[in-house]
Amino acid sequence: MKGRKRVYKYSDYIEAAEMIRGKADRIPDTAVVLGSGMGELFSNGVHISYSSIPHFPKATAPTHKGELIITDKAVIFSGRTHYYEGYEPEQLVFYVRVLKLLGIKKLILTNAAGGVNRSYSVGDIVLITDHIKLTAANALRGRNDENFGERFIDMTEAYSKRLRKSAHECAERLGIQLKDGVYFYMSGPNYETPAEIRAISVLGGDLVGMSTVHECIAARHCGIEVMGISCVTNMACGISDTPLSSDEVTAAAEANREKLTLFLNVLIERISGNDRV
Ligand code: HPA
Repeated sequence: MKGRKRVYKYSDYIEAAEMIRGKADRIPDTAVVLGSGMGELFSNGVHISYSSIPHFPKATAPTHKGELIITDKAVIFSGRTHYYEGYEPEQLVFYVRVLKLLGIKKLILTNAAGGVNRSYSVGDIVLITDHIKLTAANALRGRNDENFGERFIDMTEAYSKRLRKSAHECAERLGIQLKDGVYFYMSGPNYETPAEIRAISVLGGDLVGMSTVHECIAARHCGIEVMGISCVTNMACGISDTPLSSDEVTAAAEANREKLTLFLNVLIERISGNDRV
């Protein structure tokens, strides 16, 4: 199928993957992307700055560090790029395809999100059961790269059922309350209006945020299993009366750092290198 030219050539992904592979003795089969304010969750391991990786887009959002850390059990991305920064969706998912070439099988996408569901509170950890993405271009738009996957992909289980089951078991063991919810994507960078939040609620969104869905789509395209975890950093606009600020979002994510680190470490321990999770 002909179509719009792609930003990257297949050889660009290979170049980036080879650079990363050259820095570590072993690459685990699980990767984690840390959302806003979560950049300090992991420190031990091989650190590689995004700027040193060929073709890798820079993370420009505040609190997104822009480095990856390879630990025994997971490849951790501290900082991601967003559509609102001006990138092409294909650039947002560059690293997902590099992960595929590195042999990654499971990807945990974390994010800071606004709570739309009134049963949530700030500080809740919510497991993403599904997402709604009605706006912004699609990372798979344009000529399909058959090296990664097929043109049309099934999204019935965008967020892996078996990984979700493992996440609930880990949370229960730790005594952490883990809620379920549908993530509604908005391209940002403005926070939503109260009317938009009412619409999102009617459409079935429990959480609202500006990331994650592009990466999930690219991961499903190339057969990587996905888990999504949101930290509710604020109640969405109109649900709470106070005006939103990114400082509030970052502060709430940071306040939950300890709980999230513990949860992620136990989760990684459970699913990394384990085909049966
Ligand atoms: N809206 C969109 N994105 C967000 C929010 C929000 O309320 N909180 C954190 N990221």
